[in-house]
Amino acid sequence: MFADRVLSGMRPTGRMHLGHYHGALKNWVRLQEQYECFYFVADWHALTTHYETPELIADSAFEMVVDWLAAGIDPMQSTIFVQSQILEHAELTLLLGMTTPVGWLERVPTYKDQQLKLADRDLSTYGFLGYPVMMGADILIYRANMVPVGEDQVSHLELTREMARRFNHFYGREPEFEEKAQAAIKKLGSKKARRYEELRKAFQERGDTEALEAAKPLLEETQNLPLGDRERLFGYLEGARRVILVEPKPLLTETSKVPGTDGQKMSKSYGNAILMREEPAELTRKIRTMQTDPARARRSDPGNPERCPVWPLHQIYSDQAVRDWVVKGCTTAGIGCLECKQPVIDGILKEQEPIRERAQQYLDDPALVRNILADGCTRARKQANETMRDVREAMGLSYDRSFG
Ligand code: TRP
Ligand code: SF4
Repeated sequence: MFADRVLSGMRPTGRMHLGHYHGALKNWVRLQEQYECFYFVADWHALTTHYETPELIADSAFEMVVDWLAAGIDPMQSTIFVQSQILEHAELTLLLGMTTPVGWLERVPTYKDQQLKLADRDLSTYGFLGYPVMMGADILIYRANMVPVGEDQVSHLELTREMARRFNHFYGREPEFEEKAQAAIKKLGSKKARRYEELRKAFQERGDTEALEAAKPLLEETQNLPLGDRERLFGYLEGARRVILVEPKPLLTETSKVPGTDGQKMSKSYGNAILMREEPAELTRKIRTMQTDPARARRSDPGNPERCPVWPLHQIYSDQAVRDWVVKGCTTAGIGCLECKQPVIDGILKEQEPIRERAQQYLDDPALVRNILADGCTRARKQANETMRDVREAMGLSYDRSFG
């Protein structure tokens, strides 16, 4: 139940471009080799900022999933689903809202930033303020302990951890916790029980966090613990509460920053994006007209790659020999900018060819995508239901037997 699990989401607010690909998606593909991964279309999140253009969200959602699949997200390995199809996200968002102070939300750095940046929209809404609570619910409902995110999302994740801690503090209490935990220890068997006690002591007396880490696999590999006992034993390691919601950690992986064709951050709204599935002719045109070092107004002017937005693309797409050729040719005006850009064009075309090919089968037969998502939703729902059953029970909302 508490095994390593990765979860991440993306908002469907437009076509995916190279910024998304190199900044996140390639990393997602790598992670699925190593971990159980849940990846979802954050369509409710998209509505917090794009509530006036819902049709854009539906179209982008389909194209986005095609891009994921084309990039190598494997539905046999990863669970791919759509947030709005798992209504339990909304239930947990509502319940987490009960214990989340408004001040926490107002202090999230992106709250004011985004309002200023997206000044053309009215973001003084309840939904936009509450968006980190929804993000917390997305993560906590799958008990995911690892969340690959960009720098801008780290504060949201810290908030998620605080929400989980607060929830466990209020609702992880139970009568006779100590006795129940002791009884659960006995069920581990004498050898594991002794080891558990040692590790618990090491943490409680010396704050040894490595002991805490070591205790986790011990509990995970114990197969037939009755329901609730595992949570008790996790909680008992640290204190006197059951762990109902698991605190996630950000997974900050080195990713490449890809500038847009004007040197600014790549973004659809700046009109400087290179799509993940770009027509070869259009791709060639975009790179050929891409800005370069302003010092090279004429072919005979020497330039400096460090001041040129094409250079980061060479870092991604070119080998050392080509990069040396660029530095030498640019700084001595030995090569022209179009010449310099050709290896980048070739590199992107080569990268995108298999992506466009794989995408085609899904574009030809959209039912394939629908089936993959339906399957993913079923798997996700199962996990979400498991957590919600514990959450409802902890909050005194298990009326199954008493009412209705
Ligand atoms: N907030 C993320 C973004 O704007 C998307 C997102 C929503 C997300 N829920 C998440 C990412 C949960 C990771 C985990 O990009
Ligand atoms: Fe940029 Fe290459 Fe032109 Fe130099 S030669 S300014 S690196 S495009």
